[in-house]
Amino acid sequence: MTAPAGTPAGEATVAEATVKAAVLVEALPYILRFWERVVVVKYGGNALAGGGAEEEAAALASFAQDIVLMRSVGMLPVVVHGGGPQIGELLARLGKETEFRDGMRVTDAETLDVVRMVLVGKVNRDIVSAVNVHGSLAVGLSGEDAKLISAVPRDAELGFVGDVEVVAPEILERLLAQGLIPVVATIGTDDAGQAYNINADAVAGAVAAALGAEKLVFLTDVSGIRSEPADPASLLRTVSAADLEAMVAAGTAAGGMVPKAEACIRAVRGGVRRAHVLDGRVPHALLLEVFTDEGVGTMVGEDLVTAGRPAEEPAP
Ligand SMILES: Nc1ncnc2c1ncn2[C@@H]1O[C@H](COP(=O)(O)OP(=O)(O)OP(=O)(O)O)[C@@H](O)[C@H]1O
Ligand SMILES: [Mg+2]
Repeated sequence: MTAPAGTPAGEATVAEATVKAAVLVEALPYILRFWERVVVVKYGGNALAGGGAEEEAAALASFAQDIVLMRSVGMLPVVVHGGGPQIGELLARLGKETEFRDGMRVTDAETLDVVRMVLVGKVNRDIVSAVNVHGSLAVGLSGEDAKLISAVPRDAELGFVGDVEVVAPEILERLLAQGLIPVVATIGTDDAGQAYNINADAVAGAVAAALGAEKLVFLTDVSGIRSEPADPASLLRTVSAADLEAMVAAGTAAGGMVPKAEACIRAVRGGVRRAHVLDGRVPHALLLEVFTDEGVGTMVGEDLVTAGRPAEEPAP
């Protein structure tokens, strides 16, 4: 980096270096605490689909760097991804109309084929390739592989939409033991081999619980969980599982936040120490949340007290 015009080169460089050193030192306790601990990261389809193709590629590259950095300092990241907008886009291009009921896509056999093609064949591959720019690290799999995710149909009216019945985490444990980063597309299967589309938030929560993860992180398209969904200034920095449950019951956490909130609650009650919700479109949001004291999004814990954004921090 070059020094600003008019400042002695040495001074600027020392000041810059001191700031960088402080950042690294702040990360130290987190690096020590999370050594060889599993962190499940759900990368939302909406975080992935940010603006034009260039912005999308930049966001994915930034996410991939964060994941590789986490792995490089000893954490064991597992990526679970969604892809709602990307599925919608291909269905529209194919001229295939689909219906939504209670926010869920009615999934007939043809739609399921498209869902599978997009999630497993496109989104999964894009994430794997972005990570592997940094080394031979990521392995993509669907919940169908090694029977990772067993599914049960949710409701006959919704077609091939499933819920997680069981997660068999052994394949993930084997990949993690080999130093690899599993990237999971959220298709499950039943005993007869029928595939189902499963909500990625629910899968991430179930995978985190099955692996005994330290953390479950949701990267989405809002700054975190808000006490007023439309008001960015109402961002909650910490929330207890009980308060989050009350927010779902009251409808303050609505729409796409409901499966995330439910997954957070289930995960922290199932032994995952912390769950987080943050804006995946902010460059390196994942690193900021995991390795800094302040964080950037919302942290959920069984033992946490619900608190808003600190007064000294200006709302965006
Ligand atoms: N209390 C709340 N705080 C924050 N966001 C909320 C709240 N209640 C509802 N929401 C909505 O939840 C949305 C996030 O869920 P959404 O399903 O859209 O994204 P995603 O899960 O990241 O992506 P995908 O479903 O494609 O994987 C936000 O954009 C916001 O509109
Ligand atoms: Mg969603």
